[in-house]
Amino acid sequence: MRPTLVVADHAAAAMDAAADRVRAAAATAIARQGRFRVALAGGSTPRLLYPLLVSTVDWTRADVFFGDERVVPPDDPRSNYRMARETLLAPAGVPDANVFRWRAESPDLDGAARDYAQALRARPAPPLLDLALLGLGPDGHTASLFPGTAALAVEDRLAVAVDVPAMGTRRLTLTYPAFLGAGEIFFLVTGRDKHAALADVLRPESTLPAARIVHRPQSACIFCDQDAAQDIDLPA
Ligand code: 6PG
Repeated sequence: MRPTLVVADHAAAAMDAAADRVRAAAATAIARQGRFRVALAGGSTPRLLYPLLVSTVDWTRADVFFGDERVVPPDDPRSNYRMARETLLAPAGVPDANVFRWRAESPDLDGAARDYAQALRARPAPPLLDLALLGLGPDGHTASLFPGTAALAVEDRLAVAVDVPAMGTRRLTLTYPAFLGAGEIFFLVTGRDKHAALADVLRPESTLPAARIVHRPQSACIFCDQDAAQDIDLPA
């Protein structure tokens, strides 16, 4: 299905628009089933979004997951959990019991991925996630679904540990089944360095990892700025 594109003049405005839609998704989920289950995006783009959500979502009624995680301790500057804790979880006072952190420090990463999938499945009724927030890498990766990696072929698990040779490391990531089954998908894409990847993934025939989620049947919404979207033939 064609993705929806929300193009703002600059990154802050794009994140403002995304924040409005996250608030709406949270309110709808809480009204419908009493809980809002969200998977947060990692990287740096969400740093402009998360502070906007601190006091405008009922985090006491939320379950917070992470689309992926680097294989570092939770207090490492590269940790997606640490970035979310600094910009959202701590300022919002999200109860620890509502935060589902990947055990990225575990010596058994495959076991950590199995445990994470188990936590995700522990929901009485679908969807497993009401909303997944995702970024886009210049190479077209999203979460830690990188080009040429084994995670792209996983259809029978919700979470895996995966070798990412291009990064010279392992990563923990939710898989296509987890993202394709989410109620809503919001991509956060800003900056000139994302322009080529965005232009590519918007093509239905794109083979970049993010494209399969961008064009999923339930659709996806991409919040971007002019730097990322300029001169791209936007889907009608
Ligand atoms: C990560 C993210 C990754 C990120 C993109 C965009 O762990 O880094 O999951 O998929 O969203 O690489 O990153 P930026 O927002 O830093 O450009």
